Amino acid sequence: MKSNTPLNGCFVIGTDTEVGKTRISAALLHGLAHNGFLSAGFKPVAAGTSFIDGQWGNDDVRALREASALVLSDAEVGPFQFEAACAPHIAAALQGLAIDRAAILRSAHTLAARADVLVVEGVGGFCVPLGDDWDSADLACDLKLPVVLVVGLRLGCINHALLTAEAVRARGLSLAGWVGNSVIPGMPWLDENVTTLQQRFQKQNIPCWGHVPWLAQPTPAAVFAHLDQAALRAFFSSVSPSLASSLKT
Ligand SMILES: Nc1ncnc2c1ncn2[C@@H]1O[C@H](COP(=O)(O)OP(=O)(O)OP(=O)(O)O)[C@@H](O)[C@H]1O
Ligand SMILES: [Mg+2]
Repeated sequence: MKSNTPLNGCFVIGTDTEVGKTRISAALLHGLAHNGFLSAGFKPVAAGTSFIDGQWGNDDVRALREASALVLSDAEVGPFQFEAACAPHIAAALQGLAIDRAAILRSAHTLAARADVLVVEGVGGFCVPLGDDWDSADLACDLKLPVVLVVGLRLGCINHALLTAEAVRARGLSLAGWVGNSVIPGMPWLDENVTTLQQRFQKQNIPCWGHVPWLAQPTPAAVFAHLDQAALRAFFSSVSPSLASSLKT
């Protein structure tokens, strides 16, 4: 696929690191696969590898690979995986490497040529440096995919969510939806926080794709069950009408 062919799918960002981007991305991949679509996960830049089943790899890359409908290799899902679990430009520098912006775009289009829909997980929050003169927001602009914001529900999340939405708009990207994700059990004033987010985002015409409660086992299927199927259908009908008409409720 040529790099100017538009990609189908979404770019999942978060209000911060550890807010549930991987869990939500895996749920979307699972839901799409369950509905018969060739979904493919993509984690262009990942920091932090561990040794599992005789192989070094990154947990996010593994989770997205396993939730994808397409049978993919770790290298296809995660073309830039670095050893240290720290800011990716630092992790790359520790290995004497740089993150190749053009190579990421090529990898995304190679994957897209085999998939109906890509679910791309960003890295950390929205504006994470990936090199001297570019960051993860630039990566979202390169891929030109609609953005989905995962709000990790904890103290401070309203401010983080609203600032991130402003930053997405400032880059000229479309914010297709937001998900409230309970990353801590028993958060005080949870409902009040969700209601405030709903009110603020409604005013900006950004639909809620669901509120995922804290789950003892946040598997892709369990998380997907908490996403708003009507909102997903509305989104995927704008991306691909054939996809949307087949999404089960
Ligand atoms: N709804 C939930 N219920 C219970 N645990 C959750 C939920 N969502 C996320 N978690 C847990 O919170 C942690 C962070 O989630 P996740 O890895 O998806 O975040 P992330 O935003 O992708 O992080 P990173 O910035 O490292 O990529 C994980 O241990 C995950 O299992
Ligand atoms: Mg992740």
